[in-house]
This record gives sequence, structure tokens and C-alpha cells, in this order.
Amino acid sequence: MTPESRTAPEAAGQPSRPVPVPPGDPRDRGGKAQPILTAENLRRYFPIHGGVLMRKIAAVKAVDDVSFTVLKGETLGVVGESGCGKSTLARLLMCLMPLDAGKLVFDGDPIGGASGLSLRELRRNMQIVFQDSDASLNPRLPIEDSIAYGPRVHGMPKGAARKLAHDLLQRVGLRPELFGTRYPHELSGGQKQRVNIARALALNPRLLILDEAVSALDKSVAAQVLNLLRYLKRHFNLTYVFISHDLNVVQYIADRVLVMYLGQIVEIGPADAIYRQPKHPYTRALLDSRLDPDPRERVETAPLSGDPPNPINPPSGCRFRTRCPFAEEVCAQTPPELGEWIDRASHLTACHMANPASGHSCAGKLPPSTARLARVEAVAS
Ligand SMILES: Nc1ncnc2c1ncn2[C@@H]1O[C@H](COP(=O)(O)OP(=O)(O)O)[C@@H](O)[C@H]1O
Ligand code: SF4
Ligand SMILES: [Mg+2]
Repeated sequence: MTPESRTAPEAAGQPSRPVPVPPGDPRDRGGKAQPILTAENLRRYFPIHGGVLMRKIAAVKAVDDVSFTVLKGETLGVVGESGCGKSTLARLLMCLMPLDAGKLVFDGDPIGGASGLSLRELRRNMQIVFQDSDASLNPRLPIEDSIAYGPRVHGMPKGAARKLAHDLLQRVGLRPELFGTRYPHELSGGQKQRVNIARALALNPRLLILDEAVSALDKSVAAQVLNLLRYLKRHFNLTYVFISHDLNVVQYIADRVLVMYLGQIVEIGPADAIYRQPKHPYTRALLDSRLDPDPRERVETAPLSGDPPNPINPPSGCRFRTRCPFAEEVCAQTPPELGEWIDRASHLTACHMANPASGHSCAGKLPPSTARLARVEAVAS
């Protein structure tokens, strides 16, 4: 048994006693119905420079007109292929890079501007954990000092900050007397990610953004960290934005799911609805691409072929149309709209087939998924 698993019964998903759920958060400003975070029409283009004078010649449309809300207490999963803009979105939410356009509102307060939340206030409320656990930790600092760093910067006395670091190490399943004075190179990948999570919690944030936080870990360690995240969410009354390319992991942890393709949202809704009845052909292809444990259910034809188009010059109309088996003329001419978010049960998709008035020949009905079609064709021939 590793020290990690020995010290963290909660982290293995079996809390030794029921976890106390805080009755409510005194920092809650607008009540439960008010989203903790609202993103309105976010846009971020990365300029490409070229030529002798290194002028701007093009732009990568990494995040393009993205709007959604994060509800209090939920885990919002964000999925999509590599390069679709997930990490850029995470950095925009954290104000780690400037927006080209759009607006962020945290529990009713706009972020930035003269009257909005300052970056310092934002950091107290929102923290991020990245995939690369090495890059996030200072190799020259013992981990208890890394965890205590944020509270110290925010004015906490040294002794209190160290005590807090020890409490948090205990919470994430690392015994402080064993691990507190160790340096990052003396820890395994899973232990480092636990330290990163403890560090992110040190300012007692309300919202945690987890960008591929378990993607670099072995499956068994990833499962332990996922269970730890579930435990911490209840214990600290947290809300998560959980970003991953791994649909199985997102299904395990998310309450709602947001699917991105080429810098835009193509589908958003409750996790159950998205996994049971995905509406967008891209979501359905992504789900069909998962390896089925039942060999009889495996398909020979890949449900999703080719790479996504170049984000510098995305296709007109629907960005998925170059890979969509249901693409028609209307898809090239008119970008499909996602529709307006109404409540936590809203299941929206940006596809002309979901809009009865779009003019698409399948408007209002959902054809079978591509993998199922391939299976049917294979059986028929
Ligand atoms: N700093 C940058 N400069 C230029 N292009 C970038 C930069 N960061 C990301 N990109 C591009 O933006 C797109 C989205 O990247 P990213 O947000 O990292 O996607 P994901 O996290 O989904 O893999 C990609 O095409 C990527 O190459
Ligand atoms: S809008 Fe057209 S191209 Fe886009 S996903 Fe729907 S059917 Fe396919
Ligand atoms: Mg990424």
C-alpha cells in the first residue's frame, strides 16, 4: 500500500464517516438560482504574424462567441477534441489572458472594469488546476510553503498559513508530517496533483477550474483523484468546471456537459441527457468513438474521421459540416444557433436538424448515429 492510499480513505471514495455538508455559503450573494459564473459572448483570437515585417496575417479563432453559465454547486464538464479551445476558455474564465470580446460575471458581479471584481478578489473566489502538475509547483519550495504561498500573499500570518497548509494536505490525503517538507521532485504524479489541488483550495475559493487535471495520471491514480475531488466538492461547498477530452471521466463526475467544436459550443445539457440522447452529430460521433467493452458492439468504421478543420479559416455556416454525414446546403450557408439557456434542465444544440424551421431535410427529427448507421450497413451487406 502506498503512503498515498494509506493516508486517504476519503480519496479512495470511501469516507470513514459521513462528510459534513455546509448548510449554505455565507458568501452566496444572489441565492441558489443565480449562476456562480456567467460567460457572455467570449471571444479570443490568437494573431499569426508573418512576412518580413512580421505583420498580423491571420488569427486562430480559439474561442469564438461562447456563452454559458455555471450553476452553483454543479460540476460542469467541458469536452471536445484536442485544439477545440478548452484550455483557452479556461484561461479566459480565470482572466489569465485578456478577452478580445465578451463579458464575465461572478455571482452577479462583473469581472474587471472600474466597478467590477478585481483580479485579487477573483483569485480568492476562483482557482485553476492544470494538467501539468510539475509546471504548477515551484521546485525550490517545500510543498507546505507552496500551499501556504497564496494565503501569505493575501495577508495571512506565517504560522496560520502553515497550519492551513497542513490541514489541506491532510484533506487531500497526504500526511503533513510525512509530506509537508518534501520537494515536488520527491512526489509521484498523483501526489503532486493532490498538492496542486490543496494549493488551489488554500484561498477557500468557491469555483475550481480543472483543466485536464487527471489526464496525465495512471487510470487507478486518476480514479483516486476523481473521488478526492468529489469529496472536496461536498466538504468545501465547491463548484467545478471540469475540462477533459476523456468522455468517460466527464460522465463519471459531471452534472452538466458542454461540448466544444472548433472554438464554439455545439451542445450543452444535463450529463444524463447528453450521454443517453446526444443531439448534435459531433457529440454522437464522439460518444460512438468510445471503445465499447462488448466486442459485438465495436464498429470497424471510425464514427469520426479526419482532423478538425483549420481554426484560422473555419468552414462557413456550421463548422462541423466538413465532417458531418448529414450536411446539406443550409449547413454551409447559415450558422446554426445554440438557443437560449433557460434552466439547469435545458438541453441545447447548435444543429439545423434540431430546429424544425431550419429548412434541413431532417429538421425536427434525429437520424441514427453514424456508428449505428455503419453497423446497420455492415449487417446488411
Ligand atoms: N498562445 C497561443 N498562440 C496561438 N495559438 C494558440 C495559442 N494557444 C492556443 N492556440 C491555438 O488555439 C486553439 C485552441 O487551443 P487550446 O485552447 O489549447 O485547445 P484544447 O485545450 O481544447 O486542446 C488551437 O488551435 C491552438 O493551437
Ligand atoms: S448543422 Fe448541418 S452540418 Fe452542422 S451538425 Fe447539423 S446537420 Fe451537420
Ligand atoms: Mg487543453
